[in-house]
Amino acid sequence: MDTHFEVRPISLEHLNEISIIENLSHITPWTDQQIKEEFGRVGAYNFGVFEKNNLLAYFFSYIFLDELHILNLSVEEKSRKQGLAVLLIDFTTHAAKSAGVSKVFLECRESNTAARLLYTKCGFLLNGRRKSYYSLGSSNTSDESLREDGLLFIKEL
Ligand SMILES: CC(C)(COP(=O)(O)OP(=O)(O)OC[C@H]1O[C@@H](n2cnc3c(N)ncnc32)[C@H](O)[C@@H]1OP(=O)(O)O)[C@@H](O)C(=O)NCCC(=O)NCCS
Repeated sequence: MDTHFEVRPISLEHLNEISIIENLSHITPWTDQQIKEEFGRVGAYNFGVFEKNNLLAYFFSYIFLDELHILNLSVEEKSRKQGLAVLLIDFTTHAAKSAGVSKVFLECRESNTAARLLYTKCGFLLNGRRKSYYSLGSSNTSDESLREDGLLFIKEL
């Protein structure tokens, strides 16, 4: 891992960079309004990986009691497969543990093989399934053939 990567808190000033990465990373990306709302969430715990002042990856989560809930993890396409996602997860879970967190929760699409392998590598265990939780396209249809399951993962710290 290159040592000039730095993990730092992210804020509204990074909205434009987040929005670009978000739209290139997800089937149903967060809108700018959703991103803004996440910065205002109670317990918000949001970090990015920077190279100099360029944002390469980000992580949205929040702390509730002794739980950390991961909401979004995205790495810009040209910076993938360099360990940035592992760096963000390790950094935030260690910091959260020091703040009293004992369990980390997240979910991902069943079809997201890269994310499933990433979370398994980081020590998360499969903990449940949400039937037809995600739409396969941008429209939020209730037609089950156009939806896929969400997988719930947990890690005890
Ligand atoms: C999933 C994602 C966050 C991984 O980020 P990354 O920085 O490339 O991941 P890392 O380099 O830290 O990889 C760690 C591990 O994840 C798994 N992994 C990451 N990318 C993978 C890929 N394309 N295919 C298979 N496994 C992959 C591997 O187990 C890898 O370990 P290895 O390098 O020893 O094989 C990134 O591909 C991404 O932003 N995807 C789009 C958004 C997304 O799906 N976010 C997760 C939503 S739940």
